Amino acid sequence: MELDAFKGLLTQYTGLTLTDTDQDKARKFLHNRLAELKLTGMPSYLHRLAANNLLADQEWQVIVQALTVPESFFLRDKGQMHVLQHHILPELIQRNRPHRQLRIWSAGCSTGEEPYSLALLIQKLLPDWHDWEVLILGSDINDKVLAKARAGLYSRWSLRDAGPEVLAYFQPAAQGLLSLDATIREKVSFRRVNLLQTPFPDLEINKMDLIVCRNVFIYFDQAAITTVLEKFVQTLKPEGFLLTGHGELYQQPLQGLQTRLYLESVVYQRTIQPLTVTPPPLSAPPRRQATPATHVPVTTVNGATQDNLAKMARAYRSADYVGVLAIAQTKLPQQDSFEAHYWSAKAFASLGQYLSAENSLQAALALNKRSAQCYYLWAHIKEALNDIEQAKALLNKAIVMDEKFIPAYLELMALYEQDEPSKHHTMRKQALALLTQLPPEHYFDDFAAHAHELIQQLH
Ligand SMILES: C[S@@+](CC[C@H](N)C(=O)[O-])C[C@H]1O[C@@H](n2cnc3c(N)ncnc32)[C@H](O)[C@@H]1O
Repeated sequence: MELDAFKGLLTQYTGLTLTDTDQDKARKFLHNRLAELKLTGMPSYLHRLAANNLLADQEWQVIVQALTVPESFFLRDKGQMHVLQHHILPELIQRNRPHRQLRIWSAGCSTGEEPYSLALLIQKLLPDWHDWEVLILGSDINDKVLAKARAGLYSRWSLRDAGPEVLAYFQPAAQGLLSLDATIREKVSFRRVNLLQTPFPDLEINKMDLIVCRNVFIYFDQAAITTVLEKFVQTLKPEGFLLTGHGELYQQPLQGLQTRLYLESVVYQRTIQPLTVTPPPLSAPPRRQATPATHVPVTTVNGATQDNLAKMARAYRSADYVGVLAIAQTKLPQQDSFEAHYWSAKAFASLGQYLSAENSLQAALALNKRSAQCYYLWAHIKEALNDIEQAKALLNKAIVMDEKFIPAYLELMALYEQDEPSKHHTMRKQALALLTQLPPEHYFDDFAAHAHELIQQLH
């Protein structure tokens, strides 16, 4: 009973929930702590914690230092680091070059490995860093881990995934530790932030290009995640990115965020709000006779359409989704064509307007019910809506429609990774077999990679 009251207060203050094993740890901690403080019982301890004063603040520090998990290491999650290095950071650098500002926040950074890893990546990608105004902020609820982060001293275990290029930034220090070079250390600032209680955006934490918050939400209860996500959305620039640990946002409403899928990870992106142009809705097409199974369409009817298809693809690549809709809905000679509906669906999905996207997909599928790319896009939408089982089913359907549709194998491979290892391996094997049949320079828009690069990653 008393433990329940403590657990409730802990969740309210930090967002943290205790697993069964954590509960034993919490019981022992409370027993010892009450004795140390010479308190008569839990009620007086809870009273102390509920007060809004320095004593309560200090006591919360003792609690988070005892009960949180500070595990971290350099370049944690190679796949996500790859996405950051090859996609997200280059895009942000290009986008921000005119004003030369970059604002990055590692929220729940523990002992600093994560923000320092980001600094090392940026150092590599931005040779003219000194001409830029770059903020790399690391924050955590726990003062003790922040002190360690500022000191920049690490064990070899923290560098277990680092190659020689990163190790070159470390010097041997006392007690067998390695000291991070001051040139990198001074690029990162640290600050205490309780993601749940600290109000942000504030004077420093605002207009972020990228928030990295990994392996923090796994310890949070649902309501706390929702609260913090809302605060993150307010803190991101429009089109700014949020990276969490894998699967940490499953089942979460993603208000104000859209998903971007890479082979290695899902990344969330703040939608542009408000949308400046409201595109007119597509009229639902009359249902047609089923298209013969062998007919695979998408290509053109005449030169004008081809030209417009190229324009839509260009607009889509430069993230001008409203432009794609304008072409799809006004310029194509046949507005009730597969192309018009398919491209509208793609654009709506990228704008986070999933209902309109699904309507357009249904319209496109009514014209070609064997379109693997439609099922593939639909799977993305389901994934964005956290309906992973539907996403898997739709990807399998895409494969049934076109057994050589490589993006569906790659996507399924990623979705099966956590829970269904044998299916994950099958998908990987099939994707590899199909990729090796392609010319190495074959380009996959969905993954922004050539066939040979995907093969390399899969190996
Ligand atoms: C497992 S570490 C993650 C470190 C790093 N992000 C990584 O992935 O390697 C989780 C961190 O979240 C911090 N944390 C837990 N609750 C928090 C809260 N309410 N506000 C801020 N940080 C919190 C913990 O103190 C801990 O350092």
